[in-house]
Amino acid sequence: MSYKRTHNCGTLTKKDEGSEVRLSGWVHRRRDHGGLIFIDLRDRFGLTQIVFRPESHPKTHEMAGDLRAEWVITVKGKVVPRAEGMVNPRLKTGEIEVEGAELTILSKAKTPPFSICDDAIETNEELRLKYRYLDIRRGEIASRLLTRHSVMLATRNYLDGLGFCEIQTPILAKSTPEGARDYLVPSRVHPGTFYALPQSPQLFKQLLMVSGMDRYFQIAPCFRDEDLRADRQPEFTQIDLEMSFGDEDELFPMIEGLVEAVFQQAGLKFPSPPFLRLLYHEAIEKYGTDKPDLRFGMELIRIDEEAANSDFSVFKQVLESGGEIKGICVKGGGKFSRRQIDSYTDFVGKFGALGLAWIKIQEEGPASSIVKFFSSEVLEKIQEKMGAKQGDLLLFVAAEKSIVNQALDHLRRHIAHQQNLIDEKKFAFAWITEFPLLQWDSETQNYSCEHHPFTSPHPDDIPLLETDPLKVRSSSYDLVLNGYELGSGSQRIHDGGLQEKIFRLLKLSEEDIQKRFGFFVEALQYGTPPHLGIALGIDRLVMVMTGAEGIRDVIAFPKTQRATDIMTESPAAVMHEQLTELKIHVEPPEN
Ligand code: AMO
Repeated sequence: MSYKRTHNCGTLTKKDEGSEVRLSGWVHRRRDHGGLIFIDLRDRFGLTQIVFRPESHPKTHEMAGDLRAEWVITVKGKVVPRAEGMVNPRLKTGEIEVEGAELTILSKAKTPPFSICDDAIETNEELRLKYRYLDIRRGEIASRLLTRHSVMLATRNYLDGLGFCEIQTPILAKSTPEGARDYLVPSRVHPGTFYALPQSPQLFKQLLMVSGMDRYFQIAPCFRDEDLRADRQPEFTQIDLEMSFGDEDELFPMIEGLVEAVFQQAGLKFPSPPFLRLLYHEAIEKYGTDKPDLRFGMELIRIDEEAANSDFSVFKQVLESGGEIKGICVKGGGKFSRRQIDSYTDFVGKFGALGLAWIKIQEEGPASSIVKFFSSEVLEKIQEKMGAKQGDLLLFVAAEKSIVNQALDHLRRHIAHQQNLIDEKKFAFAWITEFPLLQWDSETQNYSCEHHPFTSPHPDDIPLLETDPLKVRSSSYDLVLNGYELGSGSQRIHDGGLQEKIFRLLKLSEEDIQKRFGFFVEALQYGTPPHLGIALGIDRLVMVMTGAEGIRDVIAFPKTQRATDIMTESPAAVMHEQLTELKIHVEPPEN
């Protein structure tokens, strides 16, 4: 029995008319029309219509009558033009059909738990994840996996062209300082000890610079046990790279070129580089976040000065207690109902804002219950600062800085989505630079790193390490795309003395350092070139490129929000003997 195809189901056109072909695939749909049986035959490449005629091949026609959706068949026949009025211009193969002469059923299929051939299915995600292989067969996820393939292919070609060498680093590794919880793997040979799955290849890629490999990259699997969100998976993939003797001015255009190559390979239009650059503090000031969605405006505007010149006690009290007041201007929002504005008040409440002040700019001037506290000059100034015109709505949050930023960042995006202000076809990239090096952890009463402890401080700020550590900027950078943090990297410390200073600030004892990354600190002493690098999340990149709603939609076999795989039912208990061998005793779960 032959099932070797002469063509796939997405190629035959008018040019092939008259050829004898063999196609194999899945029965997508079957229609019976006045004695004729039509089958849409499907494979990854497309659909081809097969027609079975009772008069020309009665036995084959009879067999075709038994076919059901998702059976796998192979068909031999001649390519013929479709009858007048039957041409389907939306299909590449829409002008022809194949007259089925021979039919073999290769395998039958149970009725799938959800329809494979309907584009829009209202099936819950749990069922789709349980039968992931069928969900992939539906096509949408398959097409995202193909984009993912293009991304990886273009990455390898592009970076190879720049002299980067792909090197695999261990999966059974030691804990890396990325800040999430590790996934641990027990050692059988050394009972009571554990490998950690890498949160990223950070230390290994730096060691490869010490090795003199000069330019490294890897499409690297990473594992982090952290709270999951729409853009986070416990197991994800980075385009991870590191280079010696370079700086940001060399790296940034390289990464812009990489993203361009990736977009081109995937057939997407690319916004021309260079990407916008924003300082961290600028991003926070204007958007309230270090990963702003720049596809639309509605920037946050600070009105502290104007508020101080008003009689509005709520604003004044916030200013007196060290808080700030910022607002956004919603174009055309003057028509929003009271109820709608109340819903925004509830919305910002989730982020700790106690209220949302508003002013509508009407024909007769600014209107709201708070305008009476402001002089007309101050109101004019606010209006001018915020670029407000007649018909617009101004919304303000007054609170401590972090609440104002968080509330308005979310509100800005919420309104933009709700009011369709976002051009979904746009890709808005930006580099965010000069993050603070350290943050203060009030729980541990200690400094912790914004990035990781091997990130170089900004060269101008090194003296501040002694006097005002929280003011020190780092030489780190993020690449953001449409409101997502796509990548992150930094110039690394290559000077042992400076590295020690940072460890001292972090209150890491000699013993801690030795235990956690002694091997690495030692390596830095054997001639370390200045080096820098970055890691881009492939899953997030493909998610944005394909307009997917969540990260699960771009991963072949993803985990749920609760880090489980419904299909394989993992994680799962293991056999008692396995635990005995590992000398592991498992406590029964607490109820
Ligand atoms: P960072 O921890 O910022 O940096 O990660 C880099 C990028 O990886 C992606 N990413 C994730 N994607 C999906 N699910 C997750 N749980 C997840 N966590 C991170 C993001 C992020 O921007 N070693 C450093 C890089 C460096 O300094 O070179 C690092 O891993 O897109």
